[in-house]
Amino acid sequence: MIKTPLTRWFDLDVPVFGAPMAGVAGGELARAVSLGGGLGMIGVGSDTPVEWLAEQARLPTEADVSFGVGLMAWALERRPELLAAAIATEPALVSVSFGDPAPFVGPLHDAGIAVATAVNSLADLDRALEAGADVIVAQGTEAGGHTGQRATLPLLQEVLAATDRPVLAAGGVATGAGLAAVLVAGAAGAWIGTPFLSCTEAANTPAARARVRAAGGDATVLTSAFDIAQGLPWPARWPGRALANEFTQLWHGREAELRGDTAAADLVRRARDEGDLDHAPVYAGESVGLVTTEESAIDVVHRLAAGARKALERVPRLLG
Ligand SMILES: Cc1cc2nc3c(=O)[nH]c(=O)nc-3n(C[C@H](O)[C@H](O)[C@H](O)COP(=O)(O)O)c2cc1C
Repeated sequence: MIKTPLTRWFDLDVPVFGAPMAGVAGGELARAVSLGGGLGMIGVGSDTPVEWLAEQARLPTEADVSFGVGLMAWALERRPELLAAAIATEPALVSVSFGDPAPFVGPLHDAGIAVATAVNSLADLDRALEAGADVIVAQGTEAGGHTGQRATLPLLQEVLAATDRPVLAAGGVATGAGLAAVLVAGAAGAWIGTPFLSCTEAANTPAARARVRAAGGDATVLTSAFDIAQGLPWPARWPGRALANEFTQLWHGREAELRGDTAAADLVRRARDEGDLDHAPVYAGESVGLVTTEESAIDVVHRLAAGARKALERVPRLLG
């Protein structure tokens, strides 16, 4: 057991929050993370059908474990029905990230649900505090998926200095020692995505999992090329960190040309449909080099907990 304000709040054994990852973190992964002693989050994409969320939420609910739901503010502005669908699943926590969470905090609090939001800058933090978010996720640029430009550790330290609300570190935490490091820095836990990308319970494909295991830590690129090619209305300030592939080699840095290129758009759409990973996005963070085996998320959480405990036991010795 490792105790922090957030393990007490959500009754967890380990301060590990399985990050919401659209297309990867469904009910099965969320259930496994929670069974391991953390809190698993279900990731909702901008075009996720509302019925899908209800189906996925049944998996942790029937296993009698808590879970959370991860929403995106810019998508909620277009599809407010996703908020009602998330509330109906009775999650312990809902995250509303990538945009202003303010309009969504009230309805979630009225339903008795805690609210987290990811911040990528101190300006984002001000907005999150003003909105009344209960949990702040300091998300560094090392993170997989859509993220900002600031690195995890300096952002985390600035956020911790600026608020007393519980803060989770996101981006690059992939070992027990890494978890211990952010706890010692003052975080109340870690919001972890990439280390779960090769888990047996993930909703991605076996081929995507194999790519993740084969990739080294320098194999990612932060790019808007996939969003632009697909015509997704992602706000420009959040590019996505993905494994570099043939598509990014050709188009990253040439986004202006990509905007009008219907052949490139068709290529990405077809690649996603057909599982062609040379041209479809495989979102992953810089910690991908540490992901080398396919295993249950329960084991990943247990390993993070055991490693963190071992690292924390060494801390007093540093004082001589
Ligand atoms: C494949 C993938 C999909 C993601 N999808 C979402 C999402 O739907 N909503 C969200 O808030 N964050 C999403 N993220 C970001 C994660 O919530 C989290 O911030 C990140 O994974 C943490 O850093 P790490 O990947 O280094 O562990 C995604 C990340 C990945 C890798």
